[in-house]
Amino acid sequence: MPRQFFVGGNFKMNPIDRATEASLVGGLNKATLDPTTEVVIAPPAIYLISVKASVRPDVAVSAQNLYPKDSGAFTGEISPKQLVDAGIPWVILGHSERRTIFHESSEFVAQKVRAALDSGLKVILCIGETLQQRESGETGAVNEAQLKPVIAAIKTAEWKNIVIAYEPVWAIGTGKVATSTRAQDTQAEIRAVIRKSVSATVADEVRIIYGGSVTANNCKELATQPDVDGFLVGGACLKPEFANIVNARL
Ligand code: G3P
Repeated sequence: MPRQFFVGGNFKMNPIDRATEASLVGGLNKATLDPTTEVVIAPPAIYLISVKASVRPDVAVSAQNLYPKDSGAFTGEISPKQLVDAGIPWVILGHSERRTIFHESSEFVAQKVRAALDSGLKVILCIGETLQQRESGETGAVNEAQLKPVIAAIKTAEWKNIVIAYEPVWAIGTGKVATSTRAQDTQAEIRAVIRKSVSATVADEVRIIYGGSVTANNCKELATQPDVDGFLVGGACLKPEFANIVNARL
């Protein structure tokens, strides 16, 4: 069965106010979106409930993070159960901004993935190498090392609730998008890791999306690549061109 194209919009710590939130959601609600693309938007936590209430029903909402406990003295954190209670079906985990700015290890990311799945959330799992790692030929090893603890933490059947987002750190917010060949080669390599370490069926079924300076201009070519099953979009998801990216395969 072909993998369903998936486009996520990661608002990061934007919008900065409720008026911007309303205009972003309003724009998306009016846009023509390819009905065969699964679309998920991830606003900041404070806007999750209001975005969920106002966004069109064919666009799902994702959190950008969670803490891997049900409840307790964890000031400032949000639990997977609270996301589920708020009607939020997805969470982004392992984003490079969490890994670098907040020092999240791959083991901690795997604990979060485990907690998310235990609560019934679906996960957009981000992995990717830095420029230095790419230049020293470590891309494959870095991606595999980031995947390994997650592979160890979850069961084969649970991979249907995971989308892998390959986001090379050097391409995030830099305007330096990976060439379609580079994205394809790396994502094929990631799929090979899943084939080797999980199963051939999961490798064939798991969606591997690309993130890093995706725009309306470069999405169509990237979308022609067999192992590019969609995108995780940062900056461009705050603009009307997000709809064009959702429609990249039209
Ligand atoms: O999670 C999406 C992201 O990190 C890519 O950001 O702004 O390069 O599209 P951007």
